[in-house]
Amino acid sequence: MTIPKIVILTGAGISAESGLSTFRAQNGLWEGYDVNDVATYEGYIRNPTVVHDFYNMLRRKLQNPSVKPNAAHFALAELEQKLGTDNVLIVTQNVDNLHEQAGSKNIIHMHGELLKVRNEKTGQIIDCFNDVNYQQNKLIRPHIVWFGEIPLQMEQIYDALSQADYFISIGTSGNVYPAAGFVQIANQAGAKSIELNLEPSLGESLFQTKIYGPASKVVPKFIATLI
Ligand code: APR
Repeated sequence: MTIPKIVILTGAGISAESGLSTFRAQNGLWEGYDVNDVATYEGYIRNPTVVHDFYNMLRRKLQNPSVKPNAAHFALAELEQKLGTDNVLIVTQNVDNLHEQAGSKNIIHMHGELLKVRNEKTGQIIDCFNDVNYQQNKLIRPHIVWFGEIPLQMEQIYDALSQADYFISIGTSGNVYPAAGFVQIANQAGAKSIELNLEPSLGESLFQTKIYGPASKVVPKFIATLI
């Protein structure tokens, strides 16, 4: 029996039950913040301290002991353990590290990582668990892909999508490209496409199978059918 190749796209919804806000919900992450101020390079140039304060706040929140992977993250880690890292790839839009904490290994953080910063001059990526003070080091920026910037590792992602037998989208609203377009590429490659989300996403009609409910319930149940 050949082992299927599975690409899983995750968004903020998979981490909602771990205590991290999604972006577009009421009281969501953008609530109270202007995306143009805290999630664009232009905003960073205008006021780097405000931008660092925002990511410092998120970094602290992520490291609060109450924030832990939930059953959905663990189910994906188990899938990788059973099917192998060559066959299961997580492409996450999330900048948290809950997939890693749950035990997943083959992960692409296409929108960057909160617990890393980048030297603007050299491009060097450095682990970062503490607040960043712009006045102390003006070359260090968050390792976050902002609006208008190109997501990371796109070539690897398109390569995996073109070989996928299954494409599973979890906890993402389908508002942000290129991730929102992955389902079409996977469909063209002949993959079975599945949406697992709290509610229909903007791209809902493009998926062959859709299951709606909280990630901690629907993800383990669906993943069990693949193991
Ligand atoms: N279980 C499953 N899905 C959930 C849950 C839950 N418990 N709670 C919320 N959701 C769903 C919402 O219904 C919504 O469709 O998760 C989705 C979250 O959508 P967004 O807040 O738009 O987050 P996401 O799709 O990850 O955003 C994409 O936008 O601003 C950028 O870079 C940021 O990576 C982010 C990108």
